[in-house]
Amino acid sequence: MLVEKQVSLQPYNSFGIAARAELLARIGHPSDLLGLMAQPEWGTSAHFILGGGSNLVITGDVSGLVLKVEIPGRCLVEESPKGWLVEAGAGENWHDFVAWTLEQGWPGLENLALIPGTVGAAPVQNIGAYGVELQDRFHSLDAIDLDSGRGFTLDAAQCGFGYRDSVFKHAPSDARSMGLAGRALITRVRFWLPRPWKPVLGYLDLQRRMEETGIRHPDARQVFDWVVAIRRAKLPDPAVIGNAGSFFKNPTVTPEQCADIIARDPRVVHYPMPDGSVKLAAGWLIDACGWKGKTLGHAGVYEKQALVLVNRGTPESPCTGGEVMTLARAIQTSVYERFGIRLEPEPVVL
Ligand code: EPU
Repeated sequence: MLVEKQVSLQPYNSFGIAARAELLARIGHPSDLLGLMAQPEWGTSAHFILGGGSNLVITGDVSGLVLKVEIPGRCLVEESPKGWLVEAGAGENWHDFVAWTLEQGWPGLENLALIPGTVGAAPVQNIGAYGVELQDRFHSLDAIDLDSGRGFTLDAAQCGFGYRDSVFKHAPSDARSMGLAGRALITRVRFWLPRPWKPVLGYLDLQRRMEETGIRHPDARQVFDWVVAIRRAKLPDPAVIGNAGSFFKNPTVTPEQCADIIARDPRVVHYPMPDGSVKLAAGWLIDACGWKGKTLGHAGVYEKQALVLVNRGTPESPCTGGEVMTLARAIQTSVYERFGIRLEPEPVVL
């Protein structure tokens, strides 16, 4: 298999940051990876797994080998009166896969429409939107251990899913979480779509759509169309303005901390969680600090959603990962000084 040298990563990260990979190999089939692992250089060079690059900030050229996962394929594994078991290769585009399941008449993924990235990257950060998280529809995944070359399968419990989190985001040294970051390459993912289909419509933006249209009982296609329209109105299209989606996680605080923040500003957007904690809208906190629409260097804060940092450069002179991180730190500092909350970045920083 061909290993390419000095490859531009600009087309492969949704921020559009210019950086090069010293070496890059395209994994179109698990056997490509096993072939690479059999080569003597494998043990000596560092490797980084690249999916759709939509949740990534690259802060410089990448030394070592980038494994670009391009494994294709999608199929129905099993159908029963209880539901559909659907599988996709890790390199499939996530949104195209969601649209395909709906075209086949298998509903369940519609709330996750238009999320950028690949199927293989989706479990890594447990993507979520409009009341549904990947873990709610996840069945299992296949992966390859990058030390031994052995294939293995994980179910949902073994993936350790949390809010924008999984074992794939934690270092192997993190004993608490049995981390697999950099240790396992996901090859295929399976989804369980239960029957009968039940729409998830609790999210405020979807409630508004129901009221505006008068449609009380939307089908899955209708929910898909609403989610696409809501996202298009609020979030920048990475093909037009480089970005990595939400840049910070929504922080969780105790009810006492929340009361303290309400005392500072009663308008703070907050949601009580089932475990007694309170989730705060990071976008609101950043907005309240006056960041919406601001620019620092070539990096900026999106004017319609303060949680999204964007590339305000041009393709010839794009923002750097360093500029994005400088802006991110400035935002973290002002949110901490005003509200006492430490915002945690969501994307992987490389
Ligand atoms: N808000 C503001 N100002 C802003 C942005 C938000 O006041 O500039 C307020 C909104 O008015 C709303 C609240 O904050 O009351 C929450 O905003 P929104 O409903 O847009 O959702 P979010 O919390 O900003 C999360 C996810 C998104 C996901 C949406 C919908 C995280 C970090 N982000 O955003 O996920 O699409 O909910 O479910 O959890 C992503 O992860 O990349 C992503 C886009």
